[in-house]
Amino acid sequence: MRPGRGKFITLEGIEGVGKSTQLEHVADLIRAAGNSVICTREPGGTPLAEDIRDLLLTPSDEQVPPSGELLLMFAARAVHLENLIRPALERGDWVVCDRFTDATYAYQGFGRGMARAEIGMLERLVQGELRPDLTILLDTPVEVGLARARKRGEPDRFESEKAQFFERVRCGYLEIAAAEPDRVRVVDAAGPIAEVNLVVASLLEKILK
Ligand code: TMP
Repeated sequence: MRPGRGKFITLEGIEGVGKSTQLEHVADLIRAAGNSVICTREPGGTPLAEDIRDLLLTPSDEQVPPSGELLLMFAARAVHLENLIRPALERGDWVVCDRFTDATYAYQGFGRGMARAEIGMLERLVQGELRPDLTILLDTPVEVGLARARKRGEPDRFESEKAQFFERVRCGYLEIAAAEPDRVRVVDAAGPIAEVNLVVASLLEKILK
């Protein structure tokens, strides 16, 4: 018998909220329930999309206009979706992705000021009807996330932005979550990892049933 379509789970949040740690945790929970799972990230996830990621994240003297940044994000997403995410879901694998299109609304929309309708147009072009089944939004105050992120070494092009930029991104994420409370679940990620793990596990329990 052909397996059913796998579920698509995304993790979101500003820098330093602990997405990588939770990605591993979520994947472990899915595996423990007997499913096969693929962990991936955006921008990136395939060799070509990772090349686009390097273009986006490497600091450069040449300005990247917000429209160019937006198009590169969706170019990477188109490649990632067709070459990795859709085939995996169709095989019946679950896919856990570190960031997806909510990040585009938050960073390029709320952060850079690109119009929501324009992002929506590209979303439809690249994704059709595909949306995550569950999005876990890890939320911390900006100063907490940035302090953690800055311990990781040289900042990339996004990490070099000012705190105000990340305040807009965080507000954007919370606005998205308020508009789609069934899909986007907000988890307070400022506390100890053990507590965050428990909340995330309870969200996963529902979708694994
Ligand atoms: P990270 O996933 O390692 O945190 O780095 C990816 C960076 O790219 C992060 O600063 C957020 C940014 N980003 C966007 O601006 N828009 C997007 O659509 C995605 C997926 C990421």
